[in-house]
Amino acid sequence: MKVIYPGSFDPVTYGHLDIIDRCSKSFDKVIVAVLNNNYKKNMFSVEERLNLLRETLKEYDNVEVDAFSGLLVDYANKRNCSTIIRGLRAISDLEYEMQMSLVNKKLEEDLETLFMVSRGKYSYLSSSIVKEVAMFGGKISCFVPKVVERALKEKMNGGQD
Ligand code: COA
Repeated sequence: MKVIYPGSFDPVTYGHLDIIDRCSKSFDKVIVAVLNNNYKKNMFSVEERLNLLRETLKEYDNVEVDAFSGLLVDYANKRNCSTIIRGLRAISDLEYEMQMSLVNKKLEEDLETLFMVSRGKYSYLSSSIVKEVAMFGGKISCFVPKVVERALKEKMNGGQD
């Protein structure tokens, strides 16, 4: 069974990686799909986000990293995949996730969204919070892998510790 795990990944955090790791064990193939959109103001370009994910996930044989733009349902059709995975960090995520899942279902009846509950230790984590901590020089090694930490530091202050 093939699944798509879509998101902005600006940048990828240990919370996303935990979901991907668990999906890689439960499904035959996981496509991590980076949204190349115009709505969110991203810190990292789509190429940078793809590179960080590919570097972080290079040990996984059944995980592919790709980019998409436009509607998720169209991308899922193009990839011949009918299952979307979304992480749920807290009950507050549910309203937005249900809305997206129902819109997608309306657009494409055959598309299913499955929710995976985030581990408690990552339930507070978001890409924005990591960027904010990094911006003020806080410790981010507990939130993101080394390669992402380095990339964030480069964005913030030219790579100086
Ligand atoms: N661990 C840590 N953080 C997590 C997480 C997890 N398991 N799951 C989500 N997050 C965080 C992300 O870091 C992100 O944080 P940020 O807002 O600080 O950047 C936030 O939760 C939500 O981001 P993400 O999961 O990337 O979702 P999104 O809302 O940016 O995008 C898409 C969701 C890509 C699935 C959706 O926008 C989409 O499908 N777009 C295509 C257009 C479309 O088809 N629209 C119609 C359907 S609604």
